[in-house]
Amino acid sequence: MTQESAVKPFIEVLSGHRQPVPPVWMMRQAGRYLPEYRELRAKAGGFLDLCFTPEYAAEVTLQPIRRFNFDAAIIFSDILVIPYALGRSVRFEAGEGPRLDPLDTPEKVATLARHADFGKLEPVYEALRRVRRELDPRIALIGFCGAPWTVATYMVAGQGTPDQAPARMMAYRHPEAFADIIDVLVENSIQYLLDQLKAGADVLQIFDTWAGVLPPREFQRWSIEPARRIVAGVRAQVPDAKIIGFPRGAGAQLPAYVETTGVNAVSIDWAAEPSLIRERVQNRVAVQGNLDPLVLIAGGAALDRAVDDVLANYAGGRFIFNLGHGIQPETPIAHVEQMLKRVRGYKG
Ligand code: CP3
Repeated sequence: MTQESAVKPFIEVLSGHRQPVPPVWMMRQAGRYLPEYRELRAKAGGFLDLCFTPEYAAEVTLQPIRRFNFDAAIIFSDILVIPYALGRSVRFEAGEGPRLDPLDTPEKVATLARHADFGKLEPVYEALRRVRRELDPRIALIGFCGAPWTVATYMVAGQGTPDQAPARMMAYRHPEAFADIIDVLVENSIQYLLDQLKAGADVLQIFDTWAGVLPPREFQRWSIEPARRIVAGVRAQVPDAKIIGFPRGAGAQLPAYVETTGVNAVSIDWAAEPSLIRERVQNRVAVQGNLDPLVLIAGGAALDRAVDDVLANYAGGRFIFNLGHGIQPETPIAHVEQMLKRVRGYKG
């Protein structure tokens, strides 16, 4: 079978065709719970060195595929490569998460570059090309970017915070300066996603990890509207581009997100309300999710029950099995195997 003609169950779901056994992958599936990741991570030096060395980035992307034969591979990179390509300082301190130079006044925002240096992201594109060459044609390759709101929360605060108060405050106090940051991120994210499609990505995911801290009006302005612009911008060049949105914590606002943005699927977190999702989200688009990453650490009967609940809630419609957020480093590999066995044994 040639690469072009191979059916990808993951893409089938995004095209509106439910699969009898849902395709499955995990957010953060390349990561510290895998010993082979930790080994390469130590060899690479810094986290960004790992992301920007195509040979290494391609290898860690493929590690979870070899072990678990997931239906999708996600390119190994990070959402903060866009601020990096915009010339901001971005560092990852071991055990502390990302550190950036805070962009927390209108004066600083006025100096923000409008255009990223996409040459700096060439290693990501090269890693995508390498993975595409090696990947089984039935497995989908996912490219991604951070949603403008979530990327802006790190740019403004210069780091992650418990509730992203610095960005929320800036959006209230200096809405025009904040809108400038969002505009720059929208335009450059469109280009970055198009470049990833060109390099071999089949699907794109927009990670809005911090969408859930916004009140409805702000959610509309800073999460929904930028996602709508990104989807429209990508589809202006690639009309059939497949795009998944992940507005984590959006809750009752998920139907509005889906209706307005035009995404093909939404990724939902574990707190989502099943009847709302089935009746007002899954009737329009595919759904991806939403096992609690903590129950994957716990394992045992609790894990079996939780997997069954997710399947019972969503596998009757267009569905991709995933976690409600990224897998955590302390997760036992045996529990991932237990989860996969149960998902793949689904008869519905
Ligand atoms: O899913 C995958 O396997 C692909 C790779 C991927 C990473 N980051 C690798 C990574 C993806 C899709 C991301 C997205 C990302 N990055 C998000 C959105 C999704 C989410 O998980 O919320 C966010 C908010 C970031 C920013 C970021 N990067 C933070 C806050 C941290 C530190 C927290 C942590 O887990 O250590 C990172 C670092 C990071 N990105 C790691 C990985 C595997 C850990 C770095 C390491 O190996 O030391």
